[in-house]
Amino acid sequence: MGQKYYYREHIEGYQRVRAEGKTAWAEIHGSTGFENFSSRVFLESVLPRLHFSVPTPAALEYGCGTGPGACFLAGRGFQVDGIDLIPLAIEMAREEARKHNLVIHYAVQDICDLPHGGKTYDLIVDSYCLQGIVTDADRAKVYAAVRARLKPGGMYLISSAVFDEERYRPQETIVDAPSGIVYSRYGEKGIIDAATGIVYVELEGSPGSYEGAIEVCGRWYLPNRRHLKPPALRMELLAAGFTVLYQEGGNLVCGPVGAEGSYG
Ligand SMILES: C[S@@+](CC[C@H](N)C(=O)[O-])C[C@H]1O[C@@H](n2cnc3c(N)ncnc32)[C@H](O)[C@@H]1O
Repeated sequence: MGQKYYYREHIEGYQRVRAEGKTAWAEIHGSTGFENFSSRVFLESVLPRLHFSVPTPAALEYGCGTGPGACFLAGRGFQVDGIDLIPLAIEMAREEARKHNLVIHYAVQDICDLPHGGKTYDLIVDSYCLQGIVTDADRAKVYAAVRARLKPGGMYLISSAVFDEERYRPQETIVDAPSGIVYSRYGEKGIIDAATGIVYVELEGSPGSYEGAIEVCGRWYLPNRRHLKPPALRMELLAAGFTVLYQEGGNLVCGPVGAEGSYG
């Protein structure tokens, strides 16, 4: 079996984080400092509005990377478990937790394959993982895993990138004749199927053993992002069985149906 489309970028990304002496994913994308992870402002604004019935709620961050979000939560009284796809990210997360004198349980785990039985959580956090899980089937697996592992009344916080009008060049199209799908240029290296919000990046050569690669007009592309417009992201979460309690763009506070009293 091949390797799923979401491995390549993240394997290479963490090799770069390590080689460049950096501590977190955001630092290879222009930010500086372990503490300045991308969802920090959102978490700071919503955490005081969440109500838990226990003094030290159990939290899971999937796609935790080197653990800046997990450390942030542990420093605020959560018992934290963090999982990530990439072994090097988890190795670095363990080093960072030690440096910060925090006890966090980390494991290498694909969220799409997380067993549904096991520990349940008061809080599950996605800090910019979801946009890299592209296909409907994989996103359904993420939501099913979250539903299975969220306690009744537990909260699900998402920070995701969404459709970016500035990257979208609808006048520059590539048409895939066999399927009739019209792709538009998106950002520097991407093409988007605007009907689904799926963004593909061009591969330098053949797809090798990557699953999910597509050939369009003689070039190979790998699924890379799901950039939904905010209303479509909301609809996806509602259809997956969540209540959306708050949304600003790609930042959402969700819960299972009936969780309304836990936020506000
Ligand atoms: C944009 S990075 C953000 C990392 C971290 N949350 C942070 O704020 O530094 C996305 C993370 O999701 C992880 N990831 C991607 N797909 C995953 C999957 N299927 N299961 C678990 N982790 C995944 C990547 O390895 C990467 O660490």
